[in-house]
Parts: sequence; structure tokens; C-alpha cells
Amino acid sequence: MKKALILSGGQGTRLRPLTHTIAKQLVPVAGKPILGYVFDHICEAKIKKAGIIISPETGQDVKDYLRDGVPWNIKTRYIVQKKPLGLAHAVLAARSFLRDDNFVMYLGDNLLSSGVRTAIERFKKNKSDAMIFLKEVEDPRRFGVARLDSDGKVIELMEKPQDPPSNLALVGVYIFTKRIFDAIARIKPSKRGELEITDAIQELINMGYAVDSEILDGWWLDTGKKDDLLQANSIVLDEYIKNDIKGKIIDSRIMGRVTIEPGSIVTNSNIRGPVKIGKNSIIENTFIGSFTSIGNNVTIKHSAIEHSVILDNARIEGIERLEDSLIGRGAEVVKNAHQHTALRLMISDDSIVEV
Ligand code: DAU
Repeated sequence: MKKALILSGGQGTRLRPLTHTIAKQLVPVAGKPILGYVFDHICEAKIKKAGIIISPETGQDVKDYLRDGVPWNIKTRYIVQKKPLGLAHAVLAARSFLRDDNFVMYLGDNLLSSGVRTAIERFKKNKSDAMIFLKEVEDPRRFGVARLDSDGKVIELMEKPQDPPSNLALVGVYIFTKRIFDAIARIKPSKRGELEITDAIQELINMGYAVDSEILDGWWLDTGKKDDLLQANSIVLDEYIKNDIKGKIIDSRIMGRVTIEPGSIVTNSNIRGPVKIGKNSIIENTFIGSFTSIGNNVTIKHSAIEHSVILDNARIEGIERLEDSLIGRGAEVVKNAHQHTALRLMISDDSIVEV
């Protein structure tokens, strides 16, 4: 397999207001943009060429992060999709990049525990026309859903059904041959006005092509909403964070696995891992509890924070207890004279909250 198609366009409506100013694929999980994990997987699968679907609004930020794929040694081609008209529409937009080659398609906001390398091997061996990945979920109505027969063969797929026939959701990773173009040519936009890849795969089945499926063992995390993102952050921190202190620690206690990048200074504070702190952040007289990710150039003073994601340049001061929160870039949460207890917030970039 030589090519990957990575979808990094779209609108990110469910993570608003955060995604008014940041592409949802660039929202950091455990300090690293989701798209970075996707590229790690493509790299691990030894795929050398990637087409990246970008939108006119957030495309430049995506380009700035990917740096033409140089950090992963992957040759990238950016493909602008003027409007987010659906996942199958994005595949059509990439036709001149994909040509007649087989390819892996990865949704740029999907986070998976394991990569695609072994699945690609299986796809090659089985010589099927498409391969999809499924995972049991609690609320399948939020996803594409598959119905399998008693032998585990896919017989029907539907996009966000009101009355799901199973709890097997379609994961945002697919392997296709050029046959997918024949199928896309035969579908119409869905009720939400999009050309759905789910409908195109159903069309492949209708046309008699072989669609292989695999039920994922490891975790698959949706990052669509605040609580999903916090959960993803916790799981990824738990899995990947090592004890690696490159910042300066003064009169402070560090417990558990904590990563602190260069230039950050922790003074008179307690940190209980797993926690990730980026570069040039200042933590003073503060408790940072488990499952918290703090970005670069963040200032936190006289506060206690747990199970939260704090993005770059944010400032938090005098907050007795901040938990389950997602704080955007440059946002400020500062205590005034009033008393308060726990806070649960989701505020946009550059917001100021005085409590
Ligand atoms: O996350 C898995 C789900 O992804 C599947 O279960 C569904 O079957 C599939 O349709 C998709 O559903 P979503 O509604 O969650 O897709 P979303 O609109 O969030 O788009 C997924 C990614 O693709 C996201 O990174 C944005 C990008 N995108 C989306 C559209 C509609 C594009 O690049 N172009 C587009 O036109």
C-alpha cells in the first residue's frame, strides 16, 4: 500500500466554540494534535505518500502543523475541498492524487490505539475490494452502523440510524480499491446533504464487491465533544506518558508519571500524574491532579486543577478547584473576590472568565 488519504477538512461543529479558531484535527490530546497520531500510524504502516483533504478555513493551520510531512518522512499533497460535502465527496476531490491505486482512508479526528499495518496485510491477503473497521459503542446513533450476518459478513450499513440494527459503529478508517469510485458515482447526497462514504460502501455491497470487516480490539476514541475529548486525553495520557522532567522543579512534589517540557517552571506545587505540561509554562502554588494536559506558555497560580485540558497561552489564577474542563488558547480564568466551589467549563479561545 503506497497511499493514504487523510481527511482534515470539515467544520467541527460539535466542538464549538473551540473549533471557531482551531481545526478539530489539531486539538491536542495529551499535548499532541490528533492528526499527529494519525500520521504516526501512516508512518508505521510504511506508507510514503499522503493526500490531505483541507478546508479553505483551516487548511493553513493544518499545513503549518504537518510541515509537508517532513517530520514523518511522508510525501504530502494538500487537496482543498471547498465545501464539506461529505466523506465520499472528499474521496472524489482526491481522484487525481489517488489515481487507480489502493489506499487507506483515515478521518483526521479519529484516535485509535493501534495502527493499520496488520489490517493492510490482511486486506492484501484477502484481495477484497474494501475493508472497514467496527467497534462496539454505547450509542450507535452517533455513527455509521453495520449489520452483520451470523458468519460476521457485512450485509448492511447505515449512517446515523435512529433505530440502529446493532451496536457496531463504523470506525473512521477504511481501506479501498479504485472500485470505490464506481460506487460513489451511483450514490446521492444524504438527508444532511452529504455524499456519505457509508452509502458508497453499501453500494459496493449492492454491486457484489467483497467488503471485508474487522472488529477492533483496542480503544477507538471519538473526540467530537468536550467529554469525549477529556476521556481521550485521560486514556492517551495513561497509555503514553513517561516520567520525563525537562523543566525546572523548585520546592515541589511530583508523584506518578509526569512529563514536563523544557522552559517550564514548577514552584511550590504538587503534581500527580499522569500529567503532561508543555514548554515555557509557569505553575506556582498549585495542585495539578491526574489526567491533566497543559499546553505551552500557560500560567497557573494558586489553583487546583484535575482531569482537564488547558491549551496554549491560557492563564488560571486563584481557582480553588477546576475539573472536567477544556480551556481554549489564550483564555483566562481568574478569581475575583467571591467564594466558589468546583467549576465545570468549556470556554472558547481568548475568552476571559472571572469567577
Ligand atoms: O468517526 C467515525 C464516523 O465518522 C463514522 O462512524 C461515520 O460513519 C462517518 O460518516 C463519520 O461521521 P461524522 O459525522 O462524525 O464525520 P465528520 O463530519 O465529523 O467528519 C469526519 C472527518 O472528516 C473530520 O476530520 C472532518 C473530515 N471531513 C468531513 C466532511 C463531511 C472532510 O474532510 N470533508 C468533509 O466533507
